[in-house]
Amino acid sequence: MRHLALRTPRVTGRRALGAITAGLIAAGGLGVSAHAAPAAAPAPAPAPAAVGQEGLALTPPMGFNNWNSTHCRAEFNESMVKGIADLFVERGLKDAGYEYVNLDDCWALPERDADGQLVPDPERFPNGIKAVADYVHSKGLKFGIYTSAGTKTCSSIGFPGALGHEYSDARQFADWGVDYLKYDNCNNQGVDAKQRYTTMRDALAATGRPIVYSICEWGQNKPWEWAGDLGQLWRTTGDISDSWSSMSSIMKANLELAPYARPGGWNDPDMLEVGNGGMTDTEYRTHFSMWSVMAAPLLIGTDLRSAPESAFEILTNDEVIAVDQDPLGKQGEVVSSEDGRWVVSKEMADGSRAVALFNEGSRAQRIETTAHAVGLPEARGYTMRDLWKHADTHTTGTIAATVPAHGTVLVRVKADRKWAQHPPAVDVSADGGTVTEAGRTERITSEVTDLGGTAAHSVSVALTGPDGWRIAPGSATSARALKPGGTLATDWDVTVPAGTSAGDRDLTLTVRYRTPSGARLTTAVPVTVRVGVPLPAGESALSDADPLSASNGWGPVERDRSVGESGAGDGGPITIGGQTFPKGLGVHAPSSVEYYLGGRCATVTARVGLDDETGDRGSVAFEVWADGTRAASTGTVTHADPARAVSADVSGADVVRLVVTDAGDGKDYDHADWADLRVTCA
Ligand code: GLA
Repeated sequence: MRHLALRTPRVTGRRALGAITAGLIAAGGLGVSAHAAPAAAPAPAPAPAAVGQEGLALTPPMGFNNWNSTHCRAEFNESMVKGIADLFVERGLKDAGYEYVNLDDCWALPERDADGQLVPDPERFPNGIKAVADYVHSKGLKFGIYTSAGTKTCSSIGFPGALGHEYSDARQFADWGVDYLKYDNCNNQGVDAKQRYTTMRDALAATGRPIVYSICEWGQNKPWEWAGDLGQLWRTTGDISDSWSSMSSIMKANLELAPYARPGGWNDPDMLEVGNGGMTDTEYRTHFSMWSVMAAPLLIGTDLRSAPESAFEILTNDEVIAVDQDPLGKQGEVVSSEDGRWVVSKEMADGSRAVALFNEGSRAQRIETTAHAVGLPEARGYTMRDLWKHADTHTTGTIAATVPAHGTVLVRVKADRKWAQHPPAVDVSADGGTVTEAGRTERITSEVTDLGGTAAHSVSVALTGPDGWRIAPGSATSARALKPGGTLATDWDVTVPAGTSAGDRDLTLTVRYRTPSGARLTTAVPVTVRVGVPLPAGESALSDADPLSASNGWGPVERDRSVGESGAGDGGPITIGGQTFPKGLGVHAPSSVEYYLGGRCATVTARVGLDDETGDRGSVAFEVWADGTRAASTGTVTHADPARAVSADVSGADVVRLVVTDAGDGKDYDHADWADLRVTCA
């Protein structure tokens, strides 16, 4: 992490104990209702571009960088870089707009030569850098390189940085045919950032070669306020890693900077992780959708030579890329965000809006907004294109979809006189999130609503579950026609099979209908049912029970051990203030672990604190939630605090949620223990 002097690579295990991955169900059921445009934040006036840099990166740069997939490992070498350039051409990535093939750290030898020149590592690049650049250019692509605005680069091996060598290094890069420079921030000797980044800007300009200048100071000095005078993109955050928590927290930080993005000057929330394996495809589609709505640079960070086919499908979705590359150059603005339901709208050059309905939550949720709220003009109807399903519908104003956990529905909506040519959107939802037990029957109600200005015909609805689940409708499952605004509501009795283990399960609600012209349409959305297993009567250790859900900042939540940040069981004994506890949970902020109580339990108690293994670093806060009520909280806890007793009244609650926050200062070193975690039930 950024604050470690030595760079220990951290691997993150996204999947936490007991967590169940949401099914990859395409969300749908979209529609729009109407009012007046939000006042757009005034965008800062475009800054003058540096000499020789005019016209660079008028849309966000697209390309490849090896860092996220290789770090400094030996597979980062000439054959990899050439292989990527080959695939850019062969697999249609070049046609899709990917242009730059960029080297990151570790391409050089640790020492300059006797003339002060940089020396390419002969093992990785036996033919030098120019040969690689020539190869990339021969494919009609562009070539990028990396160094740091410091005495050494960021790798702990310590390759030469450009501080004090700006002009000769820039000259060397230009002579090699470099078209893009990523300029990092490590080992900067405390020299003012603006000064360091300005010197390199001048050095690049002095070469006379147009070189895209990527400023990588991790958002430390608010580069969005000054870097537009220097370069074409600036990192806004620390490094991304291939995990949901990393990607989503970077996304949220970057979303706040929307007013600063403009053609030739882009907020850079770091490179893509799509295809690297640490997230689900649903999450990678969210990553790619949100980077595009944020007009972020799209630098592929996976080794395409071994990437799964799904990565190609995501990375080459040309309708999503068109959102990113829209010539108006606006970054999407947050329209609303509540309980993990995000609506982000990007104004497009053709007057349409790209609207992302992003579900940060760990269960499917319905997300709704309106054409008016996303900034569209008043109109009788709007066409709405789903950019992942590649299908058009229309709406008279409501934009809504049931979105899977961690998923994003991305639509492009436009006021259109020809709206009626497209089928009406239908909004499909059900009251998911029901908490139940194996063997029980619960009633769930689904609703199908026509959001358009024309009728939906022959509407039928079906609810299906995993093997062994009994699902019986208690009311009508079809309607000859739904008028505009009409709803078909259906009750379902859902019986959970005996012996079902704790966790969330997704049922699938499928709606079929016909348009006035007879075309058949199908929309399927997930409906989450939460299955709990009753806890034993009397007092018991919660770490012996299976949680309903668990999420963690780094690595999996651990039972009866501290968190080790990567694999299961890699932590140590739970130890707070020198005291060791045999039982409890080891977590890493931000963390949330839920247990099913079924209204039968009275108290949850624990001794909480930061685990001794983080030394004197880290700070967290513990909270115990009984359904929607905060039943206990500690405030900020640091290493100086001994194990603190927590006791929460959970009487009557269905679910207890154990939350650890980063106490507002970022999640570094936040190894938190719920030691001796006990529950008392009837
Ligand atoms: C920093 C940057 C990363 C990467 C590494 C290389 O951490 O932020 O993107 O370039 O250095 O060491």
